[in-house]
Amino acid sequence: MAFGKIGQALSAVEIFDLVRTDLEKVEREIGLESVASVEAINYINQYLQSGGGKRLRPILVLLSGRMLGDPNPTLIRMAAVVEMIHTATLVHDDVIDLAKTRRGRPSINVVWGNHTSVLSGDWLYMQAFQLALRERSFPMLDVLINLTQMMVEGELLQLERIGKIGVTEADYFELIDRKTASLFSACARLGAMSAGTGEAVEIRMADYAWNLGIAFQLVDDILDFTSREKILGKPVGNDLREGKVTLPLIYALETADAEERKLVETVLADGNYDQVPFGKILNVLHRHRGIERTQERAQAFTEKARTIIAGFPASPYQKALTAITDLVTARDH
Ligand code: IPE
Ligand code: IPE
Ligand code: MG
Ligand code: MG
Repeated sequence: MAFGKIGQALSAVEIFDLVRTDLEKVEREIGLESVASVEAINYINQYLQSGGGKRLRPILVLLSGRMLGDPNPTLIRMAAVVEMIHTATLVHDDVIDLAKTRRGRPSINVVWGNHTSVLSGDWLYMQAFQLALRERSFPMLDVLINLTQMMVEGELLQLERIGKIGVTEADYFELIDRKTASLFSACARLGAMSAGTGEAVEIRMADYAWNLGIAFQLVDDILDFTSREKILGKPVGNDLREGKVTLPLIYALETADAEERKLVETVLADGNYDQVPFGKILNVLHRHRGIERTQERAQAFTEKARTIIAGFPASPYQKALTAITDLVTARDH
């Protein structure tokens, strides 16, 4: 059994094994909760649930809850809720970003159009809250409502900065705090709340997962430059094409010369790589260590996450929450 290997890092499969049965229950719950009286919503929900995805957020809820207490129906329910909220944000995000693919398949907006996508995203949000409401827990609803507003604010901030080359490092971190880390943070906190640990532990868990979430988004923004579409499940070079200047580019632009800057400006203005091929942008990034510096930052955040989780008693779940930090930085999709 995986538990025997104390002292060694757990692999992704071993982490998954720890929560496999719980995750099956989560999937069942999501399936049961995804039925509407309107056919279009049912088609979309089925398409979404069968479309893959790493299920990282429910895994975080489950591992956190199990590390801190006995499994219970609240834990399963909260894991389902966060995945539904995550899915709803992706449906809306793909409309906003005019995305064509998600999880290796045509995105919802491509298959059903923008109008239907916005409404089915709304429906999913509300269904997630309906499910959460069954716990009759104001503190949990408080976390969920705050986090959803944070994510929307993140998307709005991003929208304001679309196409702008002057985005600063501080702007960027403000954005990913809201857009990504807030949800990660809430996942671990909800795990702790389901275990009834009290606020001090909730805060430590939230802090752990916040650092993990920041690292996750940094890696996501690196992969946007370095990965392949087949592996990533969404196009490469997409952020810049969509007008998003992310940390690797922010760093590179600090030392780039006027000519190199012009290349970036051209892609931002055109919204494509017709005049400036993607390879040229990659050259600028590499010349100015944009990727490496971002990787170093991601490492620092994962180390912080590891330090926090190291403060909890050793257990298979504690080991898994440690190992997940490596998986986030080493992932390829
Ligand atoms: C995508 O998250 C949104 C970001 C925060 C970058 P994931 O990469 O976890 O998406 P799925 O659920 O695995 O598709
Ligand atoms: C992901 O944002 C959506 C949220 C976290 C709300 P992005 O637009 O950066 O992510 P991808 O690249 O579409 O997955
Ligand atoms: Mg997007
Ligand atoms: Mg992106």
